[in-house]
Amino acid sequence: MKVLVTGGAGFIGSNLVDALINIGHKVTVIDNLSTGDKRNINPEACLYQMDLNSKSIEDVFENTKPDIVFHLAAQVNVGKSIECPLLDEEINIRGTLNLLNCCRNFGVKKIVYSSSAAVYGKPQFNPITEDHITEPISYYGVSKLTPEYYIKVFSSLYNISYVILRYSNVFGPRQNHEGEGGVVSIFINKLINKDRPVIYGSGLQTRDFIFVKDVVNANLAAIEHEENDTFNIGTNESISVVGLLDLLSNIHGQNVQAMFETGREGDIMHSCLDNNKAKSKLKWAPSHDFEQSLKDTLHYYIEKKLQSV
Ligand SMILES: NC(=O)c1ccc[n+]([C@@H]2O[C@H](COP(=O)([O-])OP(=O)(O)OC[C@H]3O[C@@H](n4cnc5c(N)ncnc54)[C@H](O)[C@@H]3O)[C@@H](O)[C@H]2O)c1
Repeated sequence: MKVLVTGGAGFIGSNLVDALINIGHKVTVIDNLSTGDKRNINPEACLYQMDLNSKSIEDVFENTKPDIVFHLAAQVNVGKSIECPLLDEEINIRGTLNLLNCCRNFGVKKIVYSSSAAVYGKPQFNPITEDHITEPISYYGVSKLTPEYYIKVFSSLYNISYVILRYSNVFGPRQNHEGEGGVVSIFINKLINKDRPVIYGSGLQTRDFIFVKDVVNANLAAIEHEENDTFNIGTNESISVVGLLDLLSNIHGQNVQAMFETGREGDIMHSCLDNNKAKSKLKWAPSHDFEQSLKDTLHYYIEKKLQSV
């Protein structure tokens, strides 16, 4: 199949591109490399370095005529969204609309949208199910939720199928130290540089960490899924931030003392996604062991550091 991946030079996007190519799809990437890296891109993929809002993305659709679009390109930094909501809106909302117009004009059959647990806001219960109220508490959450509505209206107007995937905190190789849920890569970076990691608040806040390969598999499952639908992509489990640091320091074989700083305003105490709907309807379940995935991720960053010396 001919596949277009927006954000394919980024953390999750580039892992998805690798998997799509492995199973024989012809992959095109649109990415402006604002946080992505050219070195992440599989040599068999064709990169168009351009902004999602650019008129030239029409030419990409004209040249490549994708059957399916995986939309991952986004401004992913929650802090930046608060500092600069207009930029966040421009990329995440208007960028998605520009993409949807091309999907309509060039006969795309399906769009798979990477959304986020941030659309729920402060959880009223855990694990969060898909029918939990969506009341974002950051502009980022608003700018990830709004495209969900556009995609649904678009789908009903023009008969384009969609699958919306709301991820919990994704971790794994190629993650930046910034962005959403990057605490695993931040801690690993500190550990391998023998720095002390900072924990905001008590560290007892819990998060649902999902390995990037499981997120990639959810995207692949979305290709086969025939109904328009929205799914949580998480593990149904959570671990505290201090628990995560303990586990990583044990794996790394180094005892590390965190520095504790005042909790950040609006920080959510507990967050965990219920993945039962994805298990039953999308026929997807996370299959990677958490500890082994942390080991693989740590190994990746150690290798990367060695290569850069
Ligand atoms: N990482 C997580 O924990 C997580 C959790 C929930 C949802 N998500 C969603 O998954 C998607 C991928 O996130 P990620 O963690 O891989 O982030 P990332 O920053 O690594 O990837 C985003 C990619 O989009 C590109 N991009 C940004 N703005 C662009 C623009 N205007 N035009 C073209 N390209 C642009 C960047 O260069 C980058 O390659 C995002 O939509 C994000 O909201 C991520």
